[in-house]
Amino acid sequence: GKVAVLCGGHSAEREVSLRSGNAVLKALLSAGVDAHAFDPSEHAITQLIELGFARVLIMLHGRGGEDGSMQGALQVLNLPYTGSGVLGSALAMDKIKTKQIWQTLGLPTANYQIAEKSSFEAGSCRVIMHELGDTVMVKPAQEGSSIGMTKVTNATQLETAIQDAFKYDNTVLLERFIHGPEYTVSILNGKALPSIRMSTPHTFYDYNAKYHSNTTEYFCPSGLSIEDENKLGALALEAFTAVDGSGWGRVDFMRDQSGQFYLLEANTVPGMTEKSLVPMAAKQAGMSFEQLVLAILQTADG
Ligand code: DAL
Ligand code: MG
Repeated sequence: GKVAVLCGGHSAEREVSLRSGNAVLKALLSAGVDAHAFDPSEHAITQLIELGFARVLIMLHGRGGEDGSMQGALQVLNLPYTGSGVLGSALAMDKIKTKQIWQTLGLPTANYQIAEKSSFEAGSCRVIMHELGDTVMVKPAQEGSSIGMTKVTNATQLETAIQDAFKYDNTVLLERFIHGPEYTVSILNGKALPSIRMSTPHTFYDYNAKYHSNTTEYFCPSGLSIEDENKLGALALEAFTAVDGSGWGRVDFMRDQSGQFYLLEANTVPGMTEKSLVPMAAKQAGMSFEQLVLAILQTADG
């Protein structure tokens, strides 16, 4: 039957979603699938039924698409959809809830504190810097693509960064920055794909480094020993399952100078643009973009 590729939406990651959605739609059409793009910010979601769609491939990033609300709506409409369900989507969207679950299970994740808009006091910034270390990442609890994120090294910067992050979310994660390279592990149907290591001359792997830069370097294979690669893959799967992720996704890490990995976050609808990481990992595993997209579509039937 007809497949709807949901893309666009109204989150801060709308542009990224449109790029992911277009790439996925093109691949489905060239594979002979009767696929159509559908932007839920322009059409009522009930039109999916009226237009006769049988399955939905969710390519929405961020709130309203990746956070469980769309998954819940599709469930009510009885339409099969790709990727994680309501619980996994909602948990993974929230970087703080995710870290709390990982911590409880003894999985490695960097120390952190929480800033709430309603109770935040600028005077606390010096103590927070002191407790978290020389460098802190400030992140809106529920965002993607590094939107609203700042890396800071003193209390004055911390205050400005927290105020900036409050534009995106009432709850902000303050996380000890792990000095070292960033790694990511893509997940497809309960298996880890080859890891990727990212290196950027930017202060961190931010929005520009992700989508606009020609200076970001990607290493896939990442250069890990076979033993470390297997360990990282197993950790990614455990971390993804811990937040009830399923079908497909991507788990991000930092590695410090001693070689220890720290979990950053899980993504239940990772980017599928021409610069994105999951397609790169799939390619290294011998899968074309088209094969990857068809495999993702099949997660709707599982
Ligand atoms: N949030 C972006 C789309 C990603 O994780 O790739
Ligand atoms: Mg993310």
